[in-house]
Amino acid sequence: MNPTAPLLGVNIDHVASLRQARYRGGLHPTDFAEPDPARAVHEAELGGADIITVHLREDRRHINDRDVEVIRPLTRMRLNLEMGATEEMLGIARKLHVHMCTLVPEGRQEVTTEGGLDVIGQLARLKTMVAKLKDPAGHSGGGMTVSAFIDADVRQIEACRSAGFDACEIHTGPYANAFAASGGDALRPALAAEIARLADACHAVRAMGMRLHAGHGLNYTNVAHVARIPGMTELHIGHSIVARGIYVGLRQAVADMKLTISRA
Ligand code: PXP
Repeated sequence: MNPTAPLLGVNIDHVASLRQARYRGGLHPTDFAEPDPARAVHEAELGGADIITVHLREDRRHINDRDVEVIRPLTRMRLNLEMGATEEMLGIARKLHVHMCTLVPEGRQEVTTEGGLDVIGQLARLKTMVAKLKDPAGHSGGGMTVSAFIDADVRQIEACRSAGFDACEIHTGPYANAFAASGGDALRPALAAEIARLADACHAVRAMGMRLHAGHGLNYTNVAHVARIPGMTELHIGHSIVARGIYVGLRQAVADMKLTISRA
């Protein structure tokens, strides 16, 4: 393994999505409802995950409150809570002492997170929220690392710095779409343009002194271009790993992704 490769955050939301496909009416903590995302934490850890990510959505459509409460003490690596920028989520993140949280926009109708957070449009509110999340008082880990999921846009990155975020997670969805449309041919103008846009945004994040994360739509074939961006510290990946896990097991799927990133 390459020790300078970005860390891998494994998003296990879709383990809960599969459970909810059957147990839509909600579940009591003692119900036998599978697959249990808490078990996925263990498998991801054995596969070499560096970070576990769960997104507690406002409508609790996949991960629910019980999941986060059970997963927090089970997670021996970092737990990253993805959440909307609301007072309710702030309370949960602080109560559970999660290590890190990533603020994302939330639209009730979207299947998954579709666009980056508009930090410019809610700068004052986010500044207050970030300060509360980073406050070391009463947090066993000395405060959370706070990241914003944003589009590859230098103005949003500047706003993140003003708001006090520790990290920016650059939205790689448009890159992933261009990769698929171009068959992965980086000489095709559409894909070349997306790679250049990502590189510029990532450079800006580092130049402004924040940690550099990226995620959304990354898979085993498209991850290499993103993994080799200078200064990339974390990649956050869910769907492709859980999908591969159906065939090869989650532990193996995580290990395969670790190796793919390491080789990039
Ligand atoms: N990062 C963020 C902020 C996300 O919202 C998601 C999707 O939940 C991911 C990364 C992972 O995206 P994917 O499931 O496409 O790998």
